[in-house]
Order: sequence, then C-alpha cells, then structure tokens
Amino acid sequence: MTKPTYYITTPIYYPNDKLHIGHAYSTTVADTLARYKRLKGYDVRFLTGTDEHGQKLQRKAEAVGKTPQEYIDGIVEGIKKLWERLDISYDDFIRTTESRHTEVVQKIFSRLLEQGDIYLDNYEGWYCTPDESFWTERQLKDGKCPECGGDVEWVTEQSYFFKMGKYADRLIQYFHEHPDFLVPESRKHEMLNNFLLPGLEDLCVSRTTFDWGIPVRENPKHVIYVWLDALTNYITALGYLSEEQDLEERFRHYWPADVHLMSKEIVRFHSIYWPIILMALDLPLPKQVVGHGWLLMKDGKMSKSKGNVIDPNQLIDRYGADALRYFLLREISFGQDGVFTFESFMDRLNFDLANDLGNLLHRSLAMVNKFAGGIIPGPARLTELEDELKSLVLSAVDQTEESLEKKEFSKALDAIWQLVRRGNRYIDETAPWALHKAGDGERLNTVLYTMFEVLRIVSVLIQPFMPKTSPEMWKQMGLVEGEATTWDSARQFGQLPEGLKTSPGDPIFPRLDVEKELAALGVLAPAAAEQKSVKSAPKTEQASQPKEEGAGLVTLIDIEDFSKVELRVAQVVSAEKIEKADKLLKLQLDLGTETRQVVSGIAKHYQPEQLVGQKVILVANLKPVKLRGVESHGMILAASTGDQLVLATVSGDIPVGAKVK
Ligand code: MSP
Repeated sequence: MTKPTYYITTPIYYPNDKLHIGHAYSTTVADTLARYKRLKGYDVRFLTGTDEHGQKLQRKAEAVGKTPQEYIDGIVEGIKKLWERLDISYDDFIRTTESRHTEVVQKIFSRLLEQGDIYLDNYEGWYCTPDESFWTERQLKDGKCPECGGDVEWVTEQSYFFKMGKYADRLIQYFHEHPDFLVPESRKHEMLNNFLLPGLEDLCVSRTTFDWGIPVRENPKHVIYVWLDALTNYITALGYLSEEQDLEERFRHYWPADVHLMSKEIVRFHSIYWPIILMALDLPLPKQVVGHGWLLMKDGKMSKSKGNVIDPNQLIDRYGADALRYFLLREISFGQDGVFTFESFMDRLNFDLANDLGNLLHRSLAMVNKFAGGIIPGPARLTELEDELKSLVLSAVDQTEESLEKKEFSKALDAIWQLVRRGNRYIDETAPWALHKAGDGERLNTVLYTMFEVLRIVSVLIQPFMPKTSPEMWKQMGLVEGEATTWDSARQFGQLPEGLKTSPGDPIFPRLDVEKELAALGVLAPAAAEQKSVKSAPKTEQASQPKEEGAGLVTLIDIEDFSKVELRVAQVVSAEKIEKADKLLKLQLDLGTETRQVVSGIAKHYQPEQLVGQKVILVANLKPVKLRGVESHGMILAASTGDQLVLATVSGDIPVGAKVK
C-alpha cells in the first residue's frame, strides 16, 4: 500500500544575520509535525532553506567588505549547524542562489510573461529595504514603514508587474470553499477584509536598482523581485520544471503542500500572492497556510537595536535542544503571541522537566535498582489502580493525537504531562518501599513494572517533541529502539518486555538553581547572584524550621521559597457540585495553555453559576490530589475569617495564564 504524502515547509529565512529563537520556533513546530506524521506512517517531505537575494543582503555584505555570496555562505553554514543541533529533520534545504532554483524561476517568469500575466510598466512608490516591501502613501505610518517602523525611500523605476486582480475572484471563492485553507480563522478575515475584498493591486515583481537577484532572461537589467523568487522555492525544491525526470516526478508526488508554516507578518504573501501565482501556473493550491504568532520579549519584538535577541545556541549549549524545544512548544499557545522570559524558561525546566519527567524516570530507576537488582520484573495481578492508569494512557494518546492534528502543541504536551504526573502519584500511592519492607513481592513487581510501562508510553509520545530524550530514556530503561517504541505501541499497555536490564545514567533534566543560571546567562549580574546564593545557603538546612518572631510562631520564608509557588491567573469555565460532598465544587479552569480541573471547598459560599467567567488565582504547581474521589490539580486562593469566605479574584484586563507575583 502506498503511504499518504505529507509535504510541510518553513519560510526560507533571510541569511542576513544569525537566526534567533523566533526562527527556531517556526522550525521546531514544523519539525514536530514532520516527525509526528512520519511516526504515523506518512511519506513526509520537510523543506526549509534560505532566501538569499535582495538589496538588504547586498548592502549588508558590502558593509563588511564581502561579496553577497561569501557573506551568505558563512551565515547559511551557521543556520544548518543550528538546525542540526536542534534536531531538525528536514529532507531538503533549498538556497535560492542554487541553479536548481534560479533556472526554474526564470522559466516561470518567462511563462507568466508570455501568457500576459506579467507586464512592463513604471513604478512609483515608497519602498522599505529591510522588509523588501512597497507601500502607498496611505499605508505609511507617520511617514515610516507600517511593518517595521523604519525609513522608506521614494522609488521611481521601470518594473514588471503581476496582474493580481485577474485572479482575485477565484481566490476569494477558494477561501470560501476551503475553510481550512488559512488558519487561524482570524488571519483569514484579515486577508479577506484588508486585501482581497477592497481589490488587489498588481504586484511589482522586478527591480533595476540593484543586481543581487535572478536576472529576467528577456530583459537582464531587471532582477526578479524577492517574493516571486522566494515563494517559488516551495516548488523548485521539489523539482518543478526540472529536466531530470525523477525530480519532476517527485514534484508530482508531493505537490500540493499540506502545510506552509510561517508567522503572521508573511501570511499575506503566502495566502494571496502565492496562490495566485500557482493559479497562473495551473497548479493546485497548497492545502493549508498556517500563520502562527510571534515570540516576543518583555519589551516587544526581538531586534538587534534593542539588544534583546536570543541566540538559540546559547540555550542549547547550556540546557540541550530538547529543553528549548519543550519550552517553545509548551509555553506558547499556538497561533497566539507568546513572551519569552528566562524565568519562565527556567520554570518549565525545573517544574515540568526536572520535577515531573526527570523525577519519574530517576526514582523509578533507583527503586528497581534497590528492590529488583536493576531488572524490570514482570507484573503479577493488575488491580483497579493499574486499570485506571490504562484508561488514562488511552485518553492521553487520543488527546495527544487530536491536539497534534489541530496543531495545539501545548495541549498535546499537557496531555502527556498528565500521565507523567499521574505516574509520580502512582508511585506515592503504591509506596514500593513499603511493599518491599512488607515482603509483598508480587505487588511490588506489578508496581515496578507499571512505573516503567508508564515511562515507556511517555517516551513514545514525546518523540516528535523531544527527539533526544526518548532514546536517552530507552537507553536508561534498557529498551532497544524499535522494540515497543513505535507510535502505535503507546496504545498498548503491557508492551514493555519483562526482564529489561536498566542502566541508570545522569539525570536527563537536572534541577537548576535559577539565580545561578540567570547570572550565567548574563540576565543577572554574577555578583548579585553570588550574594543571593550565599545568603540563601543556610536556608536549605533549616528549610522547614519555623523561626520565632514576636509573640507568635511565624515561619519566615525568603523570596526563593515564595518563588517556588507558581501562582497564575485562571478563568472559571464551568463549575458543578460534587455528589455527597456539600462543601466541594468541581471547577474547570482555563489557564490559556491548558484546562485544569480543581476541586475547591467553596460550595457553601458560592453557587456554581456565580463563578463562571471569574478570573481567580490558581496555585498551579501543587501536587494533584483526589478529594472525594475527584481529581484536583491545584488550588484556588480565597480569603476567609470565621464563616466568611471570599475568593481572590483578579480585576483588570490581564490574560489567563499570567503569573501572579
Ligand atoms: N525570507 C522571508 C520568507 C520567505 S518565505 C517564501 C522572511 N524571512 S525571515 O528571515 O524574516 O523569517 C521570517 C519568519 O521567521 C517568520 O515568518 C517566522 O516564521 C519566523 N520568525 C521570525 N521571527 C519570529 C518571532 N519573533 N516569532 C515567531 N516567528 C518568527 O520573512
């Protein structure tokens, strides 16, 4: 049976500078989808590359006394190295200066010229070099580029134009007939209302004021202007119009693309100009254009001038590729903008990776070592507890798949982490150390086996997100890749072979001292961090000893202790009473990146319907517990005295998920 194909692309990046974590975000997302589809049995083609022409690159190279190609080659080498370090499993890397691209772009231009879609005219308008975009007087913001806020130049020159208007109606109809063509939905409305419906202007597709580009064969003083050159990479890389038959076949095999991925600022080019170019070439349109949000810093977009650009290499060097991948995929709600802070990065590493996942693996390894000579035993009789875990596994796999199909990466990881946390709780509940002490070997074997079975299933599910961690877990568990590690094996509880010889290694995600890390990364001055850690050193020994203060016993904590508590704004989505528990309400809370279930003892003070829509403060990193058999994952804050209780709510326009400090 032939496998279904899946062709996914990232934007081709400008190699005018080193790439930052924003670029790494797009590429990681594409890689996660490519890996997932491969695991699901698709014939995947994953393309990335570099967009190497244009005036900006030419000027940049001149400024450092290099030819454009020399300058670009150095940067591209760094980009390829970065993708290798980040485990980006691309199948092809296209550079727009390669002849397999330039020659085909010339053929495409000739065809469009011949059939009258492209014509020669004069152009007058405002041009923004950094964005390689033309703007009308009306579009300028205070005389500056509306996109980047930079200076624009008045340009008058002869140019070739593409008759966009000719295809606009067909494209509008296409938008209506293919509701999933452009996602998220909001971007579709923006494209229709701001560009398509008011009427499309013809697109300038050649320039004569610089020569770092692909010459128009019919009129070589013109070079093909960047977007016609850039967008066509998605077909030239496959082999469109190639003279080699197998390449042309490859094109027919994979085209149309399943997903073109990018962030919102270039959605216009991909969802309007690109489909129109394809229509003119009589080619099918891509199935989906996906415009995600921006990764921002606290002070807005990353830019060299603000000095807030983060090099992914810096994070990979210190924490490994998977930590960065996990953070990007987990922290940002796909489609929306997300803010990068070192603090939130450290939190994810410490809470999710070290405390939850790392801990589950290492305590399991330590226990099997202590109680079973390092060999994972076979299970005896399974109890209700294991049956409950089995059904949680199934729902975690379903939710992971469903969320990945919808590109909701954070939700997918949340589903996997529910399982990780349940695994840790299973250990607490079954207390293998007590079973060992009591000499209950049968039950102990079942528990040890089950712990590792949960770990196996987690390791299978995290493969698309964290491609280095899965094999590392297998190694430590004594599992050979291919043996119970296929995607489908995650659904089959009990696939873990018995008798595996474990080999514990270093912690997969060691817990970090946040202040030391911030200092090492240059976020905090090293001296300040040093001082703080000296001051806090004795604290560990006395952590739980209350100090006497005044008349009463008051436990003093320092800021580090407080920072262990993760407080977040959450919105009540629904609330309901719990049978036979007249004090408790079961709440579903929206945290932005996930929905949490929390049981709260407020039923005497609030009716369920009063709570819906309220923004409350959630202690988000509390160990989950069961209250009257209902799982509660966190606690909401309230003030109380005597009989009175009032929930701590948040007023003002603050998004859900925001940290309370
Ligand atoms: N060369 C064009 C794209 C041509 S595609 C036919 C270009 N290059 S770029 O180097 O500026 O890269 C833009 C892309 O990088 C964005 O669309 C996005 O995918 C990614 N990102 C760059 N900065 C980003 C953030 N701060 N946040 C998220 N993604 C970011 O435009």
